[in-house]
Amino acid sequence: MTHAVSHAPEQGKVGPTLYGGKGTRRITVRDLTQAKERGEKWPMLTAYDAMTASVFDEAGIPVILVGDSMGNCHLGYDTTVPVTMDEMTLLSAAVVRGTSRALVVGDLPFGSYQEGPVQALRSATRLVKEAGVGAVKLEGGERSLAQTELIVQSGIPVMSHLGLTPQSVNAMGYRVQGRGDEAAHQLLRDAKAAQDAGAFAVVLELVPAELAAEVTRSLHIPTVGIGAGSECDAQVLVWTDALGLTSGKLPRFVKKYAELRQVMGEAARAFAEDVVGGTFPQEEHSFH
Ligand code: KIV
Repeated sequence: MTHAVSHAPEQGKVGPTLYGGKGTRRITVRDLTQAKERGEKWPMLTAYDAMTASVFDEAGIPVILVGDSMGNCHLGYDTTVPVTMDEMTLLSAAVVRGTSRALVVGDLPFGSYQEGPVQALRSATRLVKEAGVGAVKLEGGERSLAQTELIVQSGIPVMSHLGLTPQSVNAMGYRVQGRGDEAAHQLLRDAKAAQDAGAFAVVLELVPAELAAEVTRSLHIPTVGIGAGSECDAQVLVWTDALGLTSGKLPRFVKKYAELRQVMGEAARAFAEDVVGGTFPQEEHSFH
């Protein structure tokens, strides 16, 4: 595992494409803008620890999000709402340590930016200085305009998150956003506001595919879809969903690329049976 700082000067190569290129430096937000200009799509996965992040980094995933989905997917909370800045900082630092190429984006947790721009800048600065993330993400377009502007003006790249914003689950529930003319226009205004405030990308979560396509066409910054159809510039999935570690029913927009829960359960049972049956350890595992 490497211990790399994400704001290394932009020298060296990132590879011919964002995904998969070996590269000799960390990916920057500028690389993402250029990918949109080339019409190149890219993948983003979440990660919450150094080991998982290193697997995704080695696989060539160009952007890793330390999402506040760590609340339900890693820390055992019911929602993202309880996640704290201390938890986000600790786990973001681990993800940065586990990567050398990916741009690491740290989520600003609920309560760490809603009070206003000064609180938002303080939280973003902490994630950059203490964890070493290359960018932060926050929820809201027009409603988070002042926060986005101040953070960007201070030199920290911001990814905006629109559509279903899980930190507002108590107000909006989990349902498709942007349906109907008024809601669709609001989403377009939010996306434009985020771009005008200086955001480098916009996550669109649970948004009708046609609306996400329209937002994607109307922005010069990339859109990152999750449950937002195929026309977005990038796609993100929560890693525990995508690799089959999450138990229970998954949202319809998730595609499972592995069955890790089954693989890990079988491995744990095989180990237990070896121990109980006295077949582990054997001679080759022993010292004399
Ligand atoms: O926290 C998270 O994982 C996210 C993604 C779903 C975009 O915000």
